[in-house]
Amino acid sequence: MTTSIGLQDDIKSVLIDRDRIAARVRELGREIAADLEADAQRAPGDEHAGEIILVPILTGSIIFVADLIRGMPLKMRIRVLSVTSYAGATTQSKEATLASEIPPDLAGKHVLIVDDILDSGKTIRLVRELIQTQQPASVRACVLLRKTIPEALATPCDYIGFDIPDEFVVGAGLDYDGYYRNLPDLCTLRPEVL
Ligand code: IMP
Ligand code: MG
Repeated sequence: MTTSIGLQDDIKSVLIDRDRIAARVRELGREIAADLEADAQRAPGDEHAGEIILVPILTGSIIFVADLIRGMPLKMRIRVLSVTSYAGATTQSKEATLASEIPPDLAGKHVLIVDDILDSGKTIRLVRELIQTQQPASVRACVLLRKTIPEALATPCDYIGFDIPDEFVVGAGLDYDGYYRNLPDLCTLRPEVL
């Protein structure tokens, strides 16, 4: 079926297919859960100290985090955060700005920031910095994808699903102008679409 509301016509190529994504996300979930569990066990007596709080960054991380947490058999809370880096029909990331409140009760907790992709690194740097001011027990960051560009490689990030070339990608939660997040595979778009 080829209609103007179809998705497939706009795709140039599949960079990482859904099966590879699923397998890697399962692996990441196991690795992160083991690390967080080891940390949480070292927590002192206080009831909420040492709790695990996931902070997914909207909207790009929704698919990734949904899959990730189902492979992490730990007691955790989820506090979403909105960061705007680029709005609308552009592929260039701008200054990252916070578009929602940072959860206020992160002191003493083990925090895991989750985002779709590490590009310029501004988003992860900003969120990590703001969270640090609350003196959590630990802060880690996890992304499904990292672009192999100097800024991204220089940004501290604890868990990375895949390193990818410096290309604009959509699917697996990532968008162009708000579209294509629901593509199950990670894809590049035909140049005439961008
Ligand atoms: P950073 O702050 O430049 O690291 O950018 C992070 C944000 O930019 C991500 O959370 C995405 O929303 C968006 N982004 C960066 N690269 C891409 C891409 O190739 N496709 C779709 N969104 C992207
Ligand atoms: Mg995003």
